[in-house]
Amino acid sequence: MLWVKAFHIIFVVSWFAGLFYLPRLFVNHAMATEPAEIARLKLMEGKLYRFVTPIAWLALGFGMWLWLGYGFSGGWLHAKLALVLVLIGYHYYCGRLVKQFAAGKNTRSHLFYRWFNEIPVLVLVAVVILVTVKPF
Ligand code: HEM
Repeated sequence: MLWVKAFHIIFVVSWFAGLFYLPRLFVNHAMATEPAEIARLKLMEGKLYRFVTPIAWLALGFGMWLWLGYGFSGGWLHAKLALVLVLIGYHYYCGRLVKQFAAGKNTRSHLFYRWFNEIPVLVLVAVVILVTVKPF
């Protein structure tokens, strides 16, 4: 089980690297005016999203393996899974934003994306407390 948990944590950390960095690119993109910079940001956003999506599924796959393979249960896991659904929704909304930026159709300000960037931080804090402290 410890090997499964080790890979679960490795892929969770890698997923979050993408979830922290991609909205930061959106902040810069929403402020960018130079065509060369805009083209570079479009390239980086597309590559990062395509790279981090399979990693997200590996993190979730190893989590499911832990849950279903080793009989974990409890209120903490249900609360965690609810937050994981929020995270999956956030991930795929980022995918829609990548397409909007690529089409030059972004309508939101850099300020919106600075606040948007904080959502995964809140989810991470809550999930790590739930899974390590198991408060209920
Ligand atoms: C389908 C989604 C997921 C499932 C079913 C799942 C399930 C689990 C289970 C059963 C454990 C073992 C708990 C224990 O050993 O006490 C675990 C460990 C862990 N999970 Fe997940 N997880 C999922 C997604 C996530 C996500 C998105 C995060 C990060 C935000 C995360 C962070 C962690 C951490 C840090 C541990 C190690 C806890 C420890 O060693 O005490 N998991 N997960």
